[in-house]
Amino acid sequence: MIIGLEAISFHTTQHYIELSDLAEARSIAPEKFTRGLGQQQMSIACLPEDTVHLAINAAKKALERFNIAPEEIGMLVVGTESGVDHSKPVAVYVHQALGLPSNCISYETKHACFGAMAAISAAGDWLISGRANNRKALIIAADIANYALHSAAEPTQGAGAVAMVISDHPTLVHFDRNVAGHFTHNVMDFWRPLYAKEALTDGHYSIECYLDALTHTLTDAKPELPRLSDLQACLYHVPFVKMASKAHQRHFEYDQDLKLEKASTDWLNFEQSYQTKTLPWLDYNARVGNIYTGSLFLSLMALLVNGNLTPDQLISLFSYGSGSAAAFSLIRPIAGYEQFKSCIDPSLELAGRTRLSISQYEEIMQQRDQSITENDRIDPADWGLTTPYLYNGNQAHI
Ligand code: CAA
Repeated sequence: MIIGLEAISFHTTQHYIELSDLAEARSIAPEKFTRGLGQQQMSIACLPEDTVHLAINAAKKALERFNIAPEEIGMLVVGTESGVDHSKPVAVYVHQALGLPSNCISYETKHACFGAMAAISAAGDWLISGRANNRKALIIAADIANYALHSAAEPTQGAGAVAMVISDHPTLVHFDRNVAGHFTHNVMDFWRPLYAKEALTDGHYSIECYLDALTHTLTDAKPELPRLSDLQACLYHVPFVKMASKAHQRHFEYDQDLKLEKASTDWLNFEQSYQTKTLPWLDYNARVGNIYTGSLFLSLMALLVNGNLTPDQLISLFSYGSGSAAAFSLIRPIAGYEQFKSCIDPSLELAGRTRLSISQYEEIMQQRDQSITENDRIDPADWGLTTPYLYNGNQAHI
């Protein structure tokens, strides 16, 4: 049985900021954000854009653009670390908005940015078990990355959702189930306790934890782990673009069994490897920012839209969720996937966002926090989510 992706779609917010504007407002050299972190822009969520709203819109696009009927969905899982309720899952709002069948399994998964990858594994197992009964799984990675204004993490925010349909009739990529590496380790690198509206992070330590987890997953994937030269593309969780470069460096060092020194011949080989296998697929991430659970899959979308892949080439995926859990896995393109490039491509939507000034952005962030505490919100419907879920029709308030 072949299991893989039959649909993938993205939805982000209607507003963004330029990181060069943020740098200027914070009296920081813009190159720190653009070259040091590799980021260009950041999507900013304005009411009523919350995680439910992003998830619904991404899912609607996935079903409509890939011609999949709601009745075909038998499992719905939303991976998120920015849900709207401690008890009620984002998934149940999506279930209603999409008109999914009442016998559809529906729940939310959480392990920081690893939540959606965990859901994809569960969907694969569900399909293989035979319980799917010719139905498909809808997996949504939806998040709003929110840190305190003026914090070091502020330039690594973002907002968006990636919706994926997993089935036993995949049209885009299929999973190579022979190779998998897993790692779980309790660390305090990034967390959001119940009392906090914004995530807390020990930023530099989180980078170390991420890279350590990558090494462990590669080791766990042995002896089937392919050599780097056999991989056409290497995709990683992307909290900011430079992190993917650090990850590919660690992957390269692991593969070559060496420690890279800058300006050495090995370094030049690494640079070339990074520029062909990873960097070309980071453009959307650089323009959207960190979308936590969806960041890895946003990079996959760029590969599917802009790469010239041939069937069965090997592509690696590394998912990291702080706290921490990680997985290394492989996928392969399916013949004919190119015909869906225009269904996947989010370029027009990215270009259609409205640029905010930094003072507008700051006002929005403050309003967003106040509205959550003061409105004593009971149901997202109270927040305007009964207005159309359409990705073109629903103007956010600023
Ligand atoms: N020109 C060019 N580059 C510059 C520069 C300039 N003028 N000034 C600084 N830089 C470079 C630095 O050298 C550094 O690059 P290297 O890492 O390659 O050395 C880079 O810009 C960043 O500079 P700092 O390390 O000084 O930045 P910082 O301490 O202010 O903050 C951060 C960086 C720790 C990543 C912070 O943004 C943060 O905490 N982000 C949130 C946490 C995070 O994203 N962690 C990632 C791993 S955990 C994970 O992946 C899960 C998740 O999604 C959160």
